[in-house]
Amino acid sequence: MDLGGVIELLLLILPAMAANGTPVALSRVTRRGIPIDMGRRMPDGRRVLGDGKTWEGFITGLAAAALTGIILYLILGDPALVEAGLASGFGAMLGDMAGSFIKRRIGLERGAPAPLLDQLDFYIGALVMLHLAGFRIELIPAAAVAGIVIVLHFTSNYVAYRLGLKNVPW
Ligand code: CTP
Ligand code: MG
Repeated sequence: MDLGGVIELLLLILPAMAANGTPVALSRVTRRGIPIDMGRRMPDGRRVLGDGKTWEGFITGLAAAALTGIILYLILGDPALVEAGLASGFGAMLGDMAGSFIKRRIGLERGAPAPLLDQLDFYIGALVMLHLAGFRIELIPAAAVAGIVIVLHFTSNYVAYRLGLKNVPW
């Protein structure tokens, strides 16, 4: 396997990880934010996204991703990392919302576990947005990083749970 490709993709995905993790920490401070779906329901009677997706989370997640991109640029000197950070973070937030949308449609309540979807929704969103922004995404590194993302997700969520940041370990 081309480790260079994996490391390059990790740099592109790091802002997405920051975007994905920030709202969880923030939600402990602000408690309830303004739901992105504004409380609206679909014809199936369930919420469009649910209370777990807030504007505060969306905006701070995006800001965390932008900051991560800027820091990576300052360290590595490649200005494309700033644009990558924005694309990666925006994609992560959209992917996370898409994941919640799917969960609500199949009848899962907010916070109910959906294996793989919970871990990969933000990652897939980030990959798609990076691709749309013109970054080259290759299959083998994408699969390898998916594995890394899953492992990191479980460890960080377990740590967040033990720290009392999350009520459930997933
Ligand atoms: N969060 C937020 N806004 C976002 C994303 C996340 O406020 N756009 C916060 C919410 O407090 C959410 C927590 O981060 O509960 C964890 O996010 P996630 O696990 O994605 O949400 P869940 O509560 O598990 O809801 P869902 O079932 O919709 O995934
Ligand atoms: Mg969840």
